[in-house]
Amino acid sequence: MRTLQQGAETLDTADAADFTLSDALLPGEERLFEELLLAELPHFYDEVDPSFPRSLMYTARLGSDDYGYFTLRKRIFVARRDRVPIGFTVATYKRGGSVKMGPTVTVAELRRTGIGTRFRGAVEAEIARDPRIRKLYLTISGSNDRTLLFNLGLGYQVEGVLRGQYRAGQDEVVLGRIVRPAGEAAVGRNQIPAGSGRAPEVRQGTVDPDRLAEFMLRRMRSGFAGVDHSFVESIVRALAADRQVYARKGKSLLTAYHDGAVRGVGVLVPKRGGAIKLSPLLVDDLGVARAIVRAACRLADDQGRRRIYVVLPIADNSVVELLLREGFALEAQLREAYRPGMDTLVLGKCLC
Ligand SMILES: CC(C)(COP(=O)(O)OP(=O)(O)OC[C@H]1O[C@@H](n2cnc3c(N)ncnc32)[C@H](O)[C@@H]1OP(=O)(O)O)[C@@H](O)C(=O)NCCC(=O)NCCS
Repeated sequence: MRTLQQGAETLDTADAADFTLSDALLPGEERLFEELLLAELPHFYDEVDPSFPRSLMYTARLGSDDYGYFTLRKRIFVARRDRVPIGFTVATYKRGGSVKMGPTVTVAELRRTGIGTRFRGAVEAEIARDPRIRKLYLTISGSNDRTLLFNLGLGYQVEGVLRGQYRAGQDEVVLGRIVRPAGEAAVGRNQIPAGSGRAPEVRQGTVDPDRLAEFMLRRMRSGFAGVDHSFVESIVRALAADRQVYARKGKSLLTAYHDGAVRGVGVLVPKRGGAIKLSPLLVDDLGVARAIVRAACRLADDQGRRRIYVVLPIADNSVVELLLREGFALEAQLREAYRPGMDTLVLGKCLC
């Protein structure tokens, strides 16, 4: 029989496993988790300091993400042998049924013995027990060969390469593994008109959540599952001045208006290492899309960001075309990332 004891030994492992699995760190294990992450990640990523492992532990303990918008919650899994931790991995649950895996780390003396593969295999089996989970994905520094090979061995496939994502000149590979494929692909394109040619007024700052929800939620339906009023509220909360640090996932909001009516919305999220993400980008016409994208590039530039990238459902192909004309390059096709049957594209541009 399967038992789950918070913080104690057993979650679920194969009969022959020589380790136990838990999804709660015991007090003495927090230091090892922090040490292992800080010993490895700064080789590959900039702006990784103790606030990174600490915010992972804080969010996992809380059981929900105070600061995320697509992120719902985090779990930190621990493998223990004879009650001693030998590996950790983080699972970040996203709206729409995807889970982002990692970072994963095993203790140095056991590496290359197969423990990482069995640990992650057990964790992924546990996560996939939830029928709502459709997809697992992760990103890996292009120079972290061993982790790339490790994840390919777990059945992940390459979905793209993000240019200079977390460090200048350093690419990040996106890998995905579909655990529950959609019955059929969502078809169709979102028809987005060219617009009148009249430039909208683009403002930066907060907007009444109900007004924002009225504009955003209907327009997000085709590309994103699991998005509701709480998603919009989490964006509005993230605009506060005291949230503008990485650990609290501060955001900026651009809203485009014609004659006082909302016609477009773009949410900007700065990332550790110097990039900024524009997602979602929701527009009523391509003139509005152009105005928001240009305003976003200016804002990113003012903030000293090196890179901007946009995450869009593949159905928004006319916005993709516009981004290509604005100097963005297609970097990834994320399979069924936010909604069953609907792929998502990532387009990036260097601001240097
Ligand atoms: C990545 C990591 C978790 C793998 O754990 P592990 O316990 O060594 O994993 P396994 O022993 O199951 O290795 C499985 C496969 O991964 C690949 N791999 C692991 N280490 C490797 C290395 N040093 N060089 C090349 N390939 C390697 C190999 O394909 C290996 O299979 P093989 O040994 O049959 O060739 C571990 O190396 C680690 O903790 N690294 C440091 C942390 C890190 O960089 N994490 C990623 C940050 S996002």
